[in-house]
Amino acid sequence: MIIAVDGPTASGKGTLARKLAAHYGLPYLDTGLLYRAVGRQVFLDGGDPEDGGDALAATAFPDSLLGDPHLRTEETGGFASRVSVHPSVRKALYERQRKFAEQPGGAVLDGRDIGTVIAPDADVKLFVTASVEARAERRWKEMRENGLEVSLGDIADDIRQRDERDANRKDAPLRVAEGASVIDTTAMTREQALAAAIEAVEAAR
Ligand code: C5P
Repeated sequence: MIIAVDGPTASGKGTLARKLAAHYGLPYLDTGLLYRAVGRQVFLDGGDPEDGGDALAATAFPDSLLGDPHLRTEETGGFASRVSVHPSVRKALYERQRKFAEQPGGAVLDGRDIGTVIAPDADVKLFVTASVEARAERRWKEMRENGLEVSLGDIADDIRQRDERDANRKDAPLRVAEGASVIDTTAMTREQALAAAIEAVEAAR
């Protein structure tokens, strides 16, 4: 069984996808991490994320970079969002994601284009979303818990910018895949979101 989980930044799709993978005993791939590694590598190389050549060169990042805590920062998320608009970068990461999806027994992948491009044949497609305000507040709380002082308004602005870039790029824009179940977690607890996701999986498989 392949489960595709897509959605905008800070929607909680990562947490949800990880829990679903544990629930069904499936391997899990956070595809955003691959784009984050490319973004981080461009930065380390002193390159320009808007430059397709620089971004493509950075797809040759070493595997060890995937464990770098810097990948989780908002700054790297911004770089990731910039490098991910280049079709050459998306193409370079495609095979790796396909292989993961096709392993025997299935897998859970989360990202922006899993149900539309990477695994359009997935058995289950989920689109996890929430209002900008709810996502900003969750991200803000998470950052405060990690000792980071940031303004809620700045986070909301950053989320809007990333939504805009992810939804409007020409290649593989963020959109609800055909046949996907939309889970709007704005008014849900994490437990309720997981229950809704399991219900959608059970209904679809
Ligand atoms: O999900 P996460 O915030 O880690 O993703 C970082 C960035 O990588 C996103 O803003 C998006 O631009 C890009 N991305 C993508 N396709 C994916 C996963 C992430 O374009 N499948």
